[in-house]
Amino acid sequence: MTELFTAETIDQAADRLQNGELIAFPTETVFGLGAVAENEAAVAKVFQVKGRPSDNPLIVHIGQAEDIFNYAIPNEESEALIKKLSNAFWPGPLTMVIPITEGTFPKNVTGGLNSVGIRFPDNEDTQALIRAVGKPLVGPSANLSGKPSPTTVDHVFHDFSGKIAGILASQPSRIGVESTVLDVTNPNQVQILRPGYITEEMLKAAIPDLSVSTVSLTDLESADRPKSPGMKYRHYSPRQEVIAVAPNQLTDYVLTHKEHKQLGVMAPKNYLQAMGSGIASYEIEDSVEDAMHNLYAGLRYFDDQEAIDEIVVIIYPDIEGNKAYRNRLTKAASQVIE
Ligand code: TXA
Ligand code: MG
Repeated sequence: MTELFTAETIDQAADRLQNGELIAFPTETVFGLGAVAENEAAVAKVFQVKGRPSDNPLIVHIGQAEDIFNYAIPNEESEALIKKLSNAFWPGPLTMVIPITEGTFPKNVTGGLNSVGIRFPDNEDTQALIRAVGKPLVGPSANLSGKPSPTTVDHVFHDFSGKIAGILASQPSRIGVESTVLDVTNPNQVQILRPGYITEEMLKAAIPDLSVSTVSLTDLESADRPKSPGMKYRHYSPRQEVIAVAPNQLTDYVLTHKEHKQLGVMAPKNYLQAMGSGIASYEIEDSVEDAMHNLYAGLRYFDDQEAIDEIVVIIYPDIEGNKAYRNRLTKAASQVIE
């Protein structure tokens, strides 16, 4: 049985984690599948229930910012940078990849890399859970590998009911896409390995002398040189094909295809109205924030409907603030029309 825990029963959830069981927890980005990071067998269970490839490392979640220094011995320069970044963005949707201190976590956490990704998530109940356990938790997104990430308790139940010990209940995730993964192993040139809510612009605004670049997706996905191993896998995909379409072509696309296929369309109201009847719809507001907040919920909504043949989702132009949304949507999509 998969139990639901609340703020009042955090100690019980912490006991289950200490016993090597798995508890999913809410964060501001997406829900994570928690296990004690020092417990190799519990971490192995996380890979097994998700069906996750073993070379894809996990993010370690800490209950207070200073704890990052328990797992890495930084030099003076990187220590100063990590402190600046954590002051500016933690708790929050930023994962810092740092050189790992030998012997801190079992090899299956890092997939054998000599670095580890660490994040202090912005959810008070989850912070309290980690502190009650007294040890950091691994937390990959709490979805079956390859499927859209979970942003609600229901999504986690859908994928893992009966397969994990419990879920710490909460409101839906505020942001809706995973954290920005930032490699800070070289403090003179930090690199975004996975785009997220925190953009290059936001990093530079907080730390003006920061030298930051974004690793190109082709580089990230190359099988021989994967900097962030997770980026090379197919992700976020429902059963059906997903077609991402730019705003100015969206209505035409739907009108020409709706006679032949049962479409599920995720778009703002004015677009849906122009498309008339004969489509299933998931309405969002006309902003990238709302599209991001709803992307996984929308994909899952259509995934559960047998009758839907194809999912059509609005894609926004390639500008800085849209990068995380475009990254997740284009990885889910088999075709991008813009
Ligand atoms: O927002 C998030 O980050 C969520 C919530 C639950 O915290 N977690 C999450 O975990 O998205 P996951 O496992 O689905 O994605 C982890 C990503 C993968 O792309 C992985 O390759 C990368 O982080 N990663 C982890 N450790 C790394 C390391 N040492 N070096 C490079 N990339 C790393
Ligand atoms: Mg994931």
